[in-house]
Amino acid sequence: MNFELNELQQMVRETARSFADAELIPVAAELDKKGTFPSVQIDKLAELGFLGMAVPERWGGAGVDQLSYIIAIEEISRGCASTGVIMSVNNSLVCDPLLRCGDDEQRDRFLKPLASGERLGCFALSEPASGSDAAGMRCTAIKDGDHYVINGSKNWITNGKEADLCLLFAHHDPSERLRGISAFIVDRKQTPYGIGKVEEKLGIKASSTTSLIFDNIRIPASQCIGGEGNGFKVALSTLDGGRIGIAAQALGIARAAFEEALAYSRERQAFGSYIGDFGAIQEMLADMATEIEAARLLIWRAAVAKQDGERYGKMAAMAKVYASEMSARVTHKALQIHGGYGYVKEFNAERHVRDARITEIYEGTSEIQRLVIAREVQKEHAAAG
Ligand code: CAA
Repeated sequence: MNFELNELQQMVRETARSFADAELIPVAAELDKKGTFPSVQIDKLAELGFLGMAVPERWGGAGVDQLSYIIAIEEISRGCASTGVIMSVNNSLVCDPLLRCGDDEQRDRFLKPLASGERLGCFALSEPASGSDAAGMRCTAIKDGDHYVINGSKNWITNGKEADLCLLFAHHDPSERLRGISAFIVDRKQTPYGIGKVEEKLGIKASSTTSLIFDNIRIPASQCIGGEGNGFKVALSTLDGGRIGIAAQALGIARAAFEEALAYSRERQAFGSYIGDFGAIQEMLADMATEIEAARLLIWRAAVAKQDGERYGKMAAMAKVYASEMSARVTHKALQIHGGYGYVKEFNAERHVRDARITEIYEGTSEIQRLVIAREVQKEHAAAG
């Protein structure tokens, strides 16, 4: 087993780390405070090829491997968690399914501008009354000649306000439940749909989270992705990859919190010594460092499995549930190490706690990750006889 990064992976890590240091860390607190979408930073990430990282160059992407992509998400999220999720949604939840399930015409028309960063994407699966039970959606897509007519609304859509292209899931036959769902790529310019409420959130405040409203929107049938009735599989296979991205985002947030707490523990003095010399603080730092390493190993394992074409849904779920809950624990301890200063906005510790929390919820709650893992281990047990 080899844990060495190759030259490309090292270069991606250095590029992403330098970008985070120079372009994200100095502005992240202000973006959070004002809830400002990081347009300038996203444009620069597009120039670096970070919006379609694992998409082949032929389709407008950077053509790097999954591990390079996931390393970039960790580094970018260390700089700014909001920028991390904007990037992750575009790469994992929109480019990836278009690459895997789209045809060449769809790739040419929709994937290229998404992967190059000319246009931004969002992923519209959840609805006001269906989140974890994704198949319980009510949004309809009724065939009318060579079009589908879409009616319904979607909720919790990251990038909803800014996205030009939306990967939308809707039912053409609710009586068929899972098999009645199809995926569509919707071009907002071509067929404008409504942007509903922009949510006020606890964290990741510089990314938008909105509802989307589809009121008799006519989509050409040629914009169905992956074939009629295959939408649920498109959604779940996409989320498998997305979950590795969110795990890497959680890891990046934890690292930011840990690095700042470590530095603070070497500066702050109490009772005549640095607080980092006290056993109680050292114990927290040791646990934080260990959990960060453990999460990274799970994430890398899942990313390599995806790259190698193995079944990786269970590994992605393990990476996400562990990394997101680890991030909550690590950011909590980082705040504690800062004492009262951790609780006020002069330091970043409170922002990291707020940013980490969502990683236990979106792209599948921790409860859903455990369900996926349990089902897989039970299947493996049954297969082993
Ligand atoms: N890949 C491909 N197909 C899959 C799959 C996967 N990972 N998992 C299941 N399937 C297939 C199954 O094989 C099955 O097909 P067949 O009947 O042909 O065998 C079909 O899908 C149904 O599978 P299940 O019976 O397991 O379906 P279920 O209704 O029990 O649901 C679930 C399973 C795991 C609970 C799933 O609904 C789920 O993951 N829910 C969470 C949804 C989620 O993550 N939502 C987040 C939305 S995105 C977001 O957060 C917003 C954002 O912008 C960031």
